[in-house]
Amino acid sequence: MELTANVNWASYALQYDMLFQYNPFYRELHREVMELVKNWEIPHGSILADIGAGTGNYSLSMAELFPQATVLHVDKDPGMNAAARSKRPVSLTNHHIYQVGVDEIELASDHLSGLISVHALYTFPKPEKVLRQMYDWLQPGAPAILVNAGRMVNVLSWQVAIGWHLIRNHGLRRALEIMQLGKEVSRQNAYIRDMQRQGIYWMHSHQEFCEAVSRAGFKIQSARTTFRGISDLVIAVKPTTPTS
Ligand SMILES: C[S@@+](CC[C@H](N)C(=O)[O-])C[C@H]1O[C@@H](n2cnc3c(N)ncnc32)[C@H](O)[C@@H]1O
Repeated sequence: MELTANVNWASYALQYDMLFQYNPFYRELHREVMELVKNWEIPHGSILADIGAGTGNYSLSMAELFPQATVLHVDKDPGMNAAARSKRPVSLTNHHIYQVGVDEIELASDHLSGLISVHALYTFPKPEKVLRQMYDWLQPGAPAILVNAGRMVNVLSWQVAIGWHLIRNHGLRRALEIMQLGKEVSRQNAYIRDMQRQGIYWMHSHQEFCEAVSRAGFKIQSARTTFRGISDLVIAVKPTTPTS
């Protein structure tokens, strides 16, 4: 069975960036992650990766931030990747789109100088296996920022919060138009909740996520909840000597 049969990432891709444009919590998370990525010390010639990179909101920012490095934007969905490609300035030659399912990624051990994955692990068929792969791909001492949605969205509370934000910033009439335009986003998010309910998409508490990251071998430097409490953000490093 195709595990993501219900969630149509290609349809989602067409409107995915409405999140960036209009969802203040998506923007806030982007800011939070990029503030952390900015602290990385990345030598010339390094390779960085964004796993489950979607429409490229993070991978493109990373490529701009680190012109001395190559950024691998890894995602299996052609629609998501096409959206990323369409936003990529011609001058951004260090951004590479690698269209592949997470199970088929071929990266050598100790290849990456840094890695992020935002809201993608929960969609993968074997997220703990992917965490172990991420650990393997990173060089000893290299950082990882791992964000994952582990709890189900309370639809009403999110609609109210985003609705207020839209009304404040755009007025009632435009807010209603934007909500109408965002129907595909809502539809795909409803499919995501279905997959979570069925136990097909990974759900976890904050502690369970941290434990999974540690089990993969990472040393956690700090961890917190984010995205209105439904997601977990872990700042981790591949230790220079493996944990037993
Ligand atoms: C919710 S989106 C997150 C995108 C991006 N990280 C962001 O936060 O904007 C999840 C992404 O995971 C990708 N994805 C789902 N299953 C995948 C798999 N098996 N291999 C690679 N990518 C996958 C989807 O195509 C989608 O772009």
